[in-house]
Amino acid sequence: MKILVTAGPTREPIDPIRFLSNRSTGKMGFAVADQAARRGHEVKLVAGPVSLATPEGVDRRNVETAGEMLRAVEESVPWCDVLIMTAAVSDWRPAVVQTNKIKKREPVSGISLERTRDILQEIAPLKGHRMYVGFAAETDHLEQEARRKLREKGLDLIVANDATQADAAFEADTNRVTLFSANGDVENVPLMPKKDVASRLIKKVEQLLCSA
Ligand code: CTP
Repeated sequence: MKILVTAGPTREPIDPIRFLSNRSTGKMGFAVADQAARRGHEVKLVAGPVSLATPEGVDRRNVETAGEMLRAVEESVPWCDVLIMTAAVSDWRPAVVQTNKIKKREPVSGISLERTRDILQEIAPLKGHRMYVGFAAETDHLEQEARRKLREKGLDLIVANDATQADAAFEADTNRVTLFSANGDVENVPLMPKKDVASRLIKKVEQLLCSA
């Protein structure tokens, strides 16, 4: 299969020096791209700013902002059979980007923010026969929120993460997730290295495609 994976955070500039971002390191998304390639799939990876080596056999494109990630995904979705949106896309960006460094002597009372576009919702019309997989990192009401995103974003599968656990989700080398499928299947994946979570996810995608 042709699998498109997004990974890492996005960065939304405030001025040439500073940005708004999040704690994503890209480890989960890179593990997904790596495992997909190891299982013989063709893989394209759209990566936000992370310091990770490109997995062998993976075609990588680097982006910085949510807007750039949206354009890269829009370009590659027609190519893919499966999209796995692991990226922690910034939901807001500064409404105005200063061209010069904001000096500390300048009074700053606040930074006004505007919403970025939701990539999965923007590409919903391109879905056709493709499988779309999302991730949900939550601190509250994990199952309820994951199921809401599965439905509202028109996904086939969502990977739910409890972001309050030190050994799972952001920055950790391990993860513990639950896979909720649109067909009603629920699969609990206990704590294990992200590489093994990625392998379970790719096998689940293969299984769903076979049963479709
Ligand atoms: N996502 C996206 N575009 C965005 C934000 C998120 O495509 N602008 C994708 C993520 O890559 C992930 C899924 O949507 O696969 C869920 O992301 P998440 O940040 O958990 O959800 P949000 O839509 O931001 O919802 P909320 O703020 O209510 O948690």
